Amino acid sequence: MNRDDPTDSPAEDRLVGSVADREDQAVEAALRPKDLGEFIGQEKVREQLDLVLRAARARGATADHVLLSGAPGLGKTTLSMIIAAEMGAPIRITSGPAIQHAGDLAAILSSLQEGEVLFLDEIHRMSRPAEEMLYMAMEDFRVDVIVGKGPGATAIPLELPPFTLVGATTRAGLLPPPLRDRFGFTAHMEFYEPHELERVVHRSASLLDVGVEGEGAAEIAGRSRGTPRIANRLLRRVRDYAQVKADGRITQEIASAALAVYEVDARGLDRLDRAVLEALLKLFGGGPVGLSTLAVAVGEERETVEEVAEPFLVREGLLARTPRGRVATPAAWAHLGLTPPRQAGTGNGQQDLFGT
Ligand SMILES: Nc1ncnc2c1ncn2[C@@H]1O[C@H](COP(=O)(O)OP(=O)(O)OP(=O)(O)O)[C@@H](O)[C@H]1O
Ligand SMILES: [Mg+2]
Repeated sequence: MNRDDPTDSPAEDRLVGSVADREDQAVEAALRPKDLGEFIGQEKVREQLDLVLRAARARGATADHVLLSGAPGLGKTTLSMIIAAEMGAPIRITSGPAIQHAGDLAAILSSLQEGEVLFLDEIHRMSRPAEEMLYMAMEDFRVDVIVGKGPGATAIPLELPPFTLVGATTRAGLLPPPLRDRFGFTAHMEFYEPHELERVVHRSASLLDVGVEGEGAAEIAGRSRGTPRIANRLLRRVRDYAQVKADGRITQEIASAALAVYEVDARGLDRLDRAVLEALLKLFGGGPVGLSTLAVAVGEERETVEEVAEPFLVREGLLARTPRGRVATPAAWAHLGLTPPRQAGTGNGQQDLFGT
C-alpha cells in the first residue's frame, strides 16, 4: 500500500472517513471559502488570524509564519489559501512527503517571490535535512546551498525574499520543538459544532444549486462527525437520493432516509464503527478486550480498526482504550440499545447481551 496516496487507505470507501477521496478533491476547490468572512466557525482562530494579517498589511510587511494543526477535513488547506488571498499574495503549494532532499526545498525557497505564501502540507513528514534547512530559512530568510561533495564541498549562503510559511499538520505533537517555535502564530483547529456544520451545508447546497430545508441541513450536520469535508460529502449523497427518489429538495425525511441507505446512523457511525461496537458489546460483554481480538471478530485488519474506526468512537465517548484493552462506555450500550451486564437483571440481561 502506498501510504502517501490518501485515496489508497482503508478509509477510502467510507462515506464518513475524513480522508479526502477523488470526488472530494474535485468538488472541494469549488466549495472552498475564499476569504475569512466566508470561513465558517473556528471563531478564535479566525479572530486571531484576522489580527495577524491585518497588522502585517498595515505595516506593509510579510505576515509571520503560521502553523495550522487539526484533524483531516477541518479546513487547513482552505485557510492557507485564505491567508494568501487576504494578503493579496501568490501561493505555492507543496507537502512534507514531496520534499525528499534538502535540495528540493532549496529549489522551492529560492524561487519564491517577495511576500509569497509557501504552503507546506503534512509538515511533520519532511526529511530531517530539509527540516534543518527550513529552520534557517524561516528565521533568517537565508539558506546554505552545498556545492560539491566530500572535503571540497562548500556552503554558499543564499538570501531569500521574505515569505510566509504556512505549515499544516494533523499531528502537531510530532513536530520537533525547534520547528514549532519558529512559527509566529499557531492555530489549533477544533471539530465543528453541529450548528456550524449546518451553515456549511447551507452554503455548499447553494453553491451546488440544491434546495435544502433547515431540518434537512440539521440532519446532515448531526451525522458529519464535526467535519466540514464529511458534511459536504454527505450532502452530495443525500442530493443524489433526493434527485432519484423525490423532487430533488432535501427535507429532514429525505436526508434521514438517504443516510439510512448509506448506513450512516444518527450519530454519524457507519457500518464499520457499529460492527466494532457490536462485537465489543455482544461478544466480549463490553471488554476489556485486546485490539487484535476485536479486529479478528469484525474481520478487519488491526490497523483499520485502530486508525479508521477507533478515533471517532473514542472522541464520541463510546469506547475507551485502557492498558488492559478496549472497553465500551455506558454510552455505547445506550447507542446500540443494549443493557450493560451490571445493570441487567440476572437472566434477562444475559439474554439481551448474547441472545440476539
Ligand atoms: N470553515 C469552513 N467553512 C466552510 N467550508 C469549510 C470550512 N472548513 C473546511 N471546509 C470545507 O471542507 C473541505 C475540506 O477542507 P480542507 O481541504 O481545507 O481540509 P484540511 O484540513 O486541509 O484536510 P486534510 O488534513 O485532509 O488536508 C473543503 O471543501 C472546504 O470547502
Ligand atoms: Mg489539506
